[in-house]
Amino acid sequence: MCGIVGYCGNKNAGEIILNGLKKMEYRGYDSAGMSLVGQDKLKTIKSIGKLENLKKIYKENPIKGSVGIGHTRWATHGEVSLANAHPHLNTSETIALVHNGIIENYQDLKKELENLDYSFKSKTDTEVIVQLIDYYYNGNLLNAVLKSVKRLKGSYALGVISMNNPSELIAVRYKSPLIVGLSDDGYFISSELSSLVEYTNKVIYMENNEIAQFSLNNEYKFFNYNLDEIQKEITNIDLDSQSISKNGFDHYMLKEIFEQPDAIRNTLEKRIVENKIKLGDSFFTKEEIEKFNKIYIIACGTAFHAGEVAKFAIQKFTGRQVICDIASEFNYNQKFIDENTLTIFVSQSGETADTLLALENAKKLGAKILAIVNSENSTMTREADKVIYCYCGPEISVASTKAYTSQLLQLYLIALDMADKLGTMSKEEITDILEELMLIPGKIEFILSNKDDFRDIAEDIKNESSVYYTGRGIDFISAKEGALKLKEISYIHTEAMASGELKHGSIALMEKNTKIIAVVTQNFTVDKIASNLEELKSRGADIYTITTFNNSTVNQNSKQIIKIPETIDILAPFLSIIPSQFIAYYTSLAKGNDVDKPRNLAKSVTVE
Ligand code: M6R
Repeated sequence: MCGIVGYCGNKNAGEIILNGLKKMEYRGYDSAGMSLVGQDKLKTIKSIGKLENLKKIYKENPIKGSVGIGHTRWATHGEVSLANAHPHLNTSETIALVHNGIIENYQDLKKELENLDYSFKSKTDTEVIVQLIDYYYNGNLLNAVLKSVKRLKGSYALGVISMNNPSELIAVRYKSPLIVGLSDDGYFISSELSSLVEYTNKVIYMENNEIAQFSLNNEYKFFNYNLDEIQKEITNIDLDSQSISKNGFDHYMLKEIFEQPDAIRNTLEKRIVENKIKLGDSFFTKEEIEKFNKIYIIACGTAFHAGEVAKFAIQKFTGRQVICDIASEFNYNQKFIDENTLTIFVSQSGETADTLLALENAKKLGAKILAIVNSENSTMTREADKVIYCYCGPEISVASTKAYTSQLLQLYLIALDMADKLGTMSKEEITDILEELMLIPGKIEFILSNKDDFRDIAEDIKNESSVYYTGRGIDFISAKEGALKLKEISYIHTEAMASGELKHGSIALMEKNTKIIAVVTQNFTVDKIASNLEELKSRGADIYTITTFNNSTVNQNSKQIIKIPETIDILAPFLSIIPSQFIAYYTSLAKGNDVDKPRNLAKSVTVE
């Protein structure tokens, strides 16, 4: 959700900033802009829409400078317009600033500044920050930024430059990610690693309430908000630019769908040694688990669906009740949490604002915090008591695919580990499930090899105004995830409905040729759902059924059967989601949408 970059060094900042923004464009793509300081001048260019437009402006009129900042926007305050695009400037256009986050008290600050005769060109919350800096500025940029951020409520990662301090870049972080890259050619700042890896593998992760000053004479310093200098640890990262390329695929989403078998194999290789789960220090001990009186899983979007599926696994394996909550709901509802509660937070990015706030709330109540995260070194990994990484590599497409199956896997391994430690399953039962898990990558590969079958379904549904998913129990969760995938990239209204609940209202929506996608993988509900499909078919629905069965009633009532390999029921969600990922992908493609960057969305949702 918005990406910021900055550079201070001996190269031309323009190319570096554009390059960095390109890597982060998936975070927000409503508008983009950059400002450079060079030859004592501050120059800014901005454009609406994709980064390509900014590149064009830059090519036609290259601006030069060794210090610069850039921004790619996902609009929060104010519509998509040039005036609202970053960087924002003070009135005399001597200071430029880029911001990721939200300033909650910007209206109060705006009024205060207006009383001091400041005027505003944009509707953003960000513009007040640059005007505040202007107000406090007396030649020392670092001090002016520091005084300003102390007035802010909300979240921010900022990059600031000034024409009057032409060899300086200031960066500051509070509750929005910001990473610093160090190289012989200069210093970089970025909302994420992807835009740094091309230039350096030496990085520093900024923490909340830290401010950094970079200068052209090869000096950088970090301070806390009392202006005490602090020493920061330099981390060597091993992410390569290859892992964030499309690797020959047309879209990141397709590449990431295809990466699922290997992502699962990687985790299994790391975490299963001689048929035993090895979570080591990443998870809690037998004694700690025995003390847990409640288990919560809290997340957003696809990560939440992974949690909801895992609820079935944890409950089945351990006999313990699991409560799943959407982070944004959890935060504003009554919480039944104490120091004996295990709270599991699931997040691909580890930067989702709602989930981070939920974590903070759970922590305040004393709960034990486990984070299941893909992005190493993200904020969530630093806030949690224990962290289990997904190890599925960077996920770039906004529609989450490989992170989902990886999250499922980590959660299932936790469930089995808990069952082992609590003694709720025998060693043999656990081994049986682990052996079946080992077969999942090959079974996914079988579905991948039939990917073209899903193009026809996409053709059938691409012009629909509504599509419905249905399922029972764990299949209902896979239906919810399938529906989310389809709606977010095809823009077709898609809703998932519990099959047994249809007759309580939703079946009224069925007409001739209404498109239904059903998920049918569970032995103990197959007959029930078969009847539900019959009810839908008799109202004229066209049903596409993703199933592990060869069930005559299901077959008779389906327009098309999407047969997936058999597995034990509890593992079916690993397989049943793959057809839905393809259906969403091909439908988006057939509609000519931007598959990887769907409208109105952003990869990392860093605002509440
Ligand atoms: O980074 P996170 O896993 O915390 O993100 C959570 C959701 O924003 C994310 O899963 C979102 O729902 C995806 N766009 C779904 O494909």
